[in-house]
Amino acid sequence: MSQLDLIRALPKAELHVHIEGTFEPELMFAIAKRNQVVIPYETIEDVKQAYNFHNLQSFLDIYYAGANVLIHEQDFYDLAWAYFEKCQQDNVVHTEMFFDPQTHTVRGIAFETVLNGLVHACEDAKAKLGISSELIMCFLRHLSEADAMETLEQALPFKDKIIAVGLDSSEVGHPPEKFERVFAKAREAGFLIVAHAGEEGPADYVWQALDLLKVNRIDHGVRSEEDPALMQRLAQERMPLTVCPLSNLKLCVVKDMREHNIQRLLEQGLCVTVNSDDPAYFGGYMNDNFIAVADALDLSEGELKKLAINSFEASFLEDAEKEKWINQIHAL
Ligand code: HPA
Ligand code: ZN
Repeated sequence: MSQLDLIRALPKAELHVHIEGTFEPELMFAIAKRNQVVIPYETIEDVKQAYNFHNLQSFLDIYYAGANVLIHEQDFYDLAWAYFEKCQQDNVVHTEMFFDPQTHTVRGIAFETVLNGLVHACEDAKAKLGISSELIMCFLRHLSEADAMETLEQALPFKDKIIAVGLDSSEVGHPPEKFERVFAKAREAGFLIVAHAGEEGPADYVWQALDLLKVNRIDHGVRSEEDPALMQRLAQERMPLTVCPLSNLKLCVVKDMREHNIQRLLEQGLCVTVNSDDPAYFGGYMNDNFIAVADALDLSEGELKKLAINSFEASFLEDAEKEKWINQIHAL
């Protein structure tokens, strides 16, 4: 089997995708029109020109502006449904999606409007496409601890619809320790825990995510490589890192894909996975991310299979489900 055929054939779980980051310009234009919201672009070409980032913040400014078009439950449904169609194309059979309620509640959109639209799309994806999914609610780390606490309170009545809480947005200057109490409360309430750490921020933020937030996974985490003791800890615990290759390239976390450390992380026994982060902004969904690293780093068949196996190992699926998919990968 060719490398490309194998990538396509592998069943995969996606563990790091921001649903607001799957907002394709075509759908953004359509929803802006029906909601009569003005956006700062006239053509798809204008949009593509604007998607030229030099760091995380330069992306976030544009990403939050795009999300302002989303108002009604149907908008959130359409957004998620379009992403599920991409999952189907890429043989992503399970996905655990982030959503950022604060991006919407700050504009007067009800928490339930956002959640209901996403939940209905998840239900339809299971029924019509056979794709399983979970929702992970992220706190925006550039906002205050009090804001995050209030968002957690809003989520409590919907605990059964949200599997985990996470932490995203501008990393540097907003360390995990800022949210230690919020995450303690979330753990008490029974949420699983993830956090973006070690994308632009230092290895110390990964330690904080482990020791203070008590995460079940680290999102990104590529800067962990700068600290050998941390690498040893991550390997020993098989603590998953949800790595996003095209995101790292587009946000200049790496200069060239040939310099990406995903293969070295894998070699050192870390449970690394491949993910798309914000695929509408970074130029590709799951398989594009696999292809980008497979080409740049000349990944072997064994390494590609290991990355797909890790995605199920690192997922929040039941053990029997994990085993089912991992056996399918071994059989390829
Ligand atoms: N990092 C931090 N926050 C984000 C990202 C990311 O890559 N994507 C969307 N919000
Ligand atoms: Zn992310």
